[in-house]
Amino acid sequence: VIRDLPDLFENLEIVMIDNMMTQRYSSLFNLPNSARYNFLEEDVISADLPSIIEGSDMVLHLAAITDAAGSFDKKELLEKNNYETTVKVAEACSVVDSPLIHLSSTSVYGTQNDVVDENCSEEELKPQSPYAETKLKEEKFLIELSKKKRLRFITCRFGTISGVSPGMRFHTAVNKFCWQAIMGQSLTVWRTALHQKRPYLTIDDAVSTIAFIINKQLFDGSIYNVLTNNHTVKDIINFIKKSVPSLKIEYVDTNIMNQLSYDVSNKRIKDASFTFSGSLEKSIKETLKLLQNSNKDYYS
Ligand SMILES: NC(=O)c1ccc[n+]([C@@H]2O[C@H](COP(=O)([O-])OP(=O)(O)OC[C@H]3O[C@@H](n4cnc5c(N)ncnc54)[C@H](O)[C@@H]3O)[C@@H](O)[C@H]2O)c1
Repeated sequence: VIRDLPDLFENLEIVMIDNMMTQRYSSLFNLPNSARYNFLEEDVISADLPSIIEGSDMVLHLAAITDAAGSFDKKELLEKNNYETTVKVAEACSVVDSPLIHLSSTSVYGTQNDVVDENCSEEELKPQSPYAETKLKEEKFLIELSKKKRLRFITCRFGTISGVSPGMRFHTAVNKFCWQAIMGQSLTVWRTALHQKRPYLTIDDAVSTIAFIINKQLFDGSIYNVLTNNHTVKDIINFIKKSVPSLKIEYVDTNIMNQLSYDVSNKRIKDASFTFSGSLEKSIKETLKLLQNSNKDYYS
């Protein structure tokens, strides 16, 4: 996002706040000259946000502990961090009247139906992890705050990100599978997941959505699903096999397991005139290519 937005908006000044808890310094390497960047190494919870945010055109709230599968062991820490950062950011945006993009996750869903969208019933919101539970709580907080105070915001429920970026991480499904494939390890597939459909979002589509929201000033207080496509794990395995033919699979148990398979609909954002142009297959190919020389025996 911080690399691509300067191509789309002239004379951009980007202020970034991160406490570096994830050590992802590489995200800041070789930033383009076309924008003015200003990095503040601070915790969002203790930072004086209103004075930092005041006068800005918009705030993109990305700060979170993001390992959903690993969130069972650190439920309290995660909830405190993710919920409180959202509260602080939203309250600051409200005070200085800056529009806010809040990122939630499609992992809030769980339905017996074939398709689920943002208008679903409460029963179809079934967060399977402390991470997803907290996302839902954050969403509700923003809706409540906007009823009491001035707050222009949008909540985007992102699908799992795939694709290459300098700060990419490898604990989510697609990237983790690419890593395991190149390292000659068996893919650890959740026992129930092979034929379950889940939503994925390519990094290019994620950035384009953010630019689209800014251009369109789509701060309408609504929730939007943002995903390139729904795929099964079987699809992902088939995509990976094209570059790693000797791929092996191992089935494992996890805390996040159910029998549900469903498509998450992206109709609402498409109806607002956004066009998705990414491809999960292409993003997998690029991720594997990035790693190709790390273990020559497996990539072909
Ligand atoms: N990547 C995905 O697949 C995905 C999918 C759906 C939603 N999301 C959401 O998108 C947002 C960004 O995700 P990401 O993949 O870029 O995550 P990330 O882990 O790469 O980045 C999150 C950043 O937040 C920082 N951070 C956490 N707590 C902080 C605090 N209290 N103060 C300051 N900095 C703090 C971390 O240091 C890290 O750099 C998150 O809200 C995440 O839940 C991501």
